[in-house]
Amino acid sequence: MKKVIIDSDFGIDDAVAVLLALESKDFEVLGITTVYGNVDIKQATNNAYFLLEQWNYNIPIFRGEEMPLEKDLYISTETHGKNGLGNIIVNKDYEPADQKDAWEFIIEMVERYPEEITVITLGPLTNIASAILKNPTAMIKVREIVSMGGGILKGNMSPVAEFNIWCDPEAAKIVYDAEIPIKMVGLDVTHRVILTPNHIEFVKLIGGEKGEFLGKILDYYTSYYWNHERILGCVMHDPLAVAIAANQSLAKYVHSHVDISLNGITRGECVVDLVDAWCNQKNADVAVDVFPEEFFDYFFRSLFRNNVN
Ligand code: BDR
Ligand code: CA
Repeated sequence: MKKVIIDSDFGIDDAVAVLLALESKDFEVLGITTVYGNVDIKQATNNAYFLLEQWNYNIPIFRGEEMPLEKDLYISTETHGKNGLGNIIVNKDYEPADQKDAWEFIIEMVERYPEEITVITLGPLTNIASAILKNPTAMIKVREIVSMGGGILKGNMSPVAEFNIWCDPEAAKIVYDAEIPIKMVGLDVTHRVILTPNHIEFVKLIGGEKGEFLGKILDYYTSYYWNHERILGCVMHDPLAVAIAANQSLAKYVHSHVDISLNGITRGECVVDLVDAWCNQKNADVAVDVFPEEFFDYFFRSLFRNNVN
């Protein structure tokens, strides 16, 4: 079992990804850290508590950064609904009791388990950058970061910038420059794993109460994709990162130099030097191809381990 920390901005695909990780037999989830992004930090943390309490997971949650390092805060309420979970009722207000900050928890775990921790990032990279800024010597001992973010040929906030990187490009640059092994799981591959309306009916049918809950939030996410992108189904961005953290053979990678654009019309772009034109140090394994059938096999078998044979 891999020791993992999941860093998330708790939108809909984040919730699915976190449940996938918690249900999978491949991970020991040491803790969950929250970050602004799809919703503000308070709502992201509320969503984390709600989700874990609802399904009886006893995993610590650490509230993370509420703002990007330099950029203005931008919250995307449209894609995931006002509360990040398709506007289903999250009726409790969970204030974390005297907890450490996310960055503090991440450093503590890496110091306790050097070279053993995989950090899965599903939102803007501000918490990870903060941890690197506070203690670079500890953070170099992260075994691997598997990061949903960026894109080689695609953006979703600009022609070239993907949301998680676009939200805090300065943080992304710190993370990519830190010499920690990174797997970049960008839009080029996530847009090839589409959960269809048929899949969602299957989730409702076999998933018991959890399936009903997932069905509701996934229906919301599906309407967003239909209304805005004419995609019939919803894109499994964050679950793909979790699945790849469990089983890297779900994708193919090119070991490349990745730089983050901080300026001008390309601000927030992950510039991937696939052809080694700059001859710079290669700092990431960039997913360039994915095996959707294998992904969905892993997804359903892990998420509903107790429901399907
Ligand atoms: C990313 O942005 C968020 O809306 C999703 O949760 C995912 O992490 C995709 O660009
Ligand atoms: Ca996310």
